[in-house]
Amino acid sequence: MTRPAAGSGHGGVDLNTTVGSVSLLNPVMTASGTAGYGTELAGFVDLAGLGAVVVKSLGADPWPGNAPPRVHSTTAGMLNSVGLQGPGVAAWRREQLPQLAAAGATVVASIWGRSVDDYARAAEALAGCDPAVVAVEVNLSCPNLDGGTHLFAHDAEASARVIAATEVAGLPRWAKLSPNTDRLVEVAVAVAAAGAEAVTLVNTLLGMVIDVERRRPVLGAGGGGLSGPAVHPVAVRAVHTVHRELPDLPIVGVGGVTSAEDAVELLLAGASAVQVGTATFADPRAVGRVLDGLASWCAHHGVATVRELIGGAHE
Ligand SMILES: Cc1cc2nc3c(=O)[nH]c(=O)nc-3n(C[C@H](O)[C@H](O)[C@H](O)COP(=O)(O)O)c2cc1C
Repeated sequence: MTRPAAGSGHGGVDLNTTVGSVSLLNPVMTASGTAGYGTELAGFVDLAGLGAVVVKSLGADPWPGNAPPRVHSTTAGMLNSVGLQGPGVAAWRREQLPQLAAAGATVVASIWGRSVDDYARAAEALAGCDPAVVAVEVNLSCPNLDGGTHLFAHDAEASARVIAATEVAGLPRWAKLSPNTDRLVEVAVAVAAAGAEAVTLVNTLLGMVIDVERRRPVLGAGGGGLSGPAVHPVAVRAVHTVHRELPDLPIVGVGGVTSAEDAVELLLAGASAVQVGTATFADPRAVGRVLDGLASWCAHHGVATVRELIGGAHE
């Protein structure tokens, strides 16, 4: 990946974009949970040249995650049930964030919880952190132990309560939503009204693989989340639908991006930026490759500024 100078773009293409109040060097980021908590990818990608590094979701407290096995490859992607293992926000701020900041990365901190109070405590623990952190992505695809429906992201009212409670972070918030609901637009409306500057679409699709010899699910947790090329059309549809219904709500598109064309599709559907997740497991340079490819695609198609593409698939 060739590092562009701020504002000058790659090969003459202006790649700058904005997500709500956040200005980004370019629209290509890592996806939460697929690039570690810190500088794990630094040997493969110039972290400072990415739109942002989105770190794995952090809880208010350390959390051990699910029983192994936690990942399994599928025909067109992978199934995971990592279970949000992590060191907690305070340890991350102490041990990982300084390295990311020193690498010049633009950082988006992702947080998770099992109750509104968990999310509020995680958000509070981010308050006043290093200015390298430009936004908080609130992962709402988490079981709601306060009651209501299974996942926060399937419940507009619960999702809105979480977003309101995370204001204490003092940072722009992006609500990361689930594709496993037909109430996506309703949830997006609710989180925007509660203070989210943007929505990130989408998290994984619920799935399961069964080992036919053992006659048991292959993952330790039973089911898991499907990601990779298999979910790309689901992500494109989600972004397209939310942009059509809520054209003023900024969207970060994520799901099965492995090539520049995949990123362009999400931008045309209405995303202002994209994230690269599962592709990184097969190729740790994937996010840089997508960024370079996006610049080349724009140059070859006479696209002077990447912002021209946003929502271009709509009338
Ligand atoms: C192993 C693994 C761990 C993940 N962990 C998280 C996480 O901690 N928080 C989160 O919001 N999303 C998490 N995700 C979901 C991704 O960020 C992304 O939304 C999803 O995988 C779709 O994008 P992809 O097909 O490019 O991977 C995880 C995905 C994978 C494959």
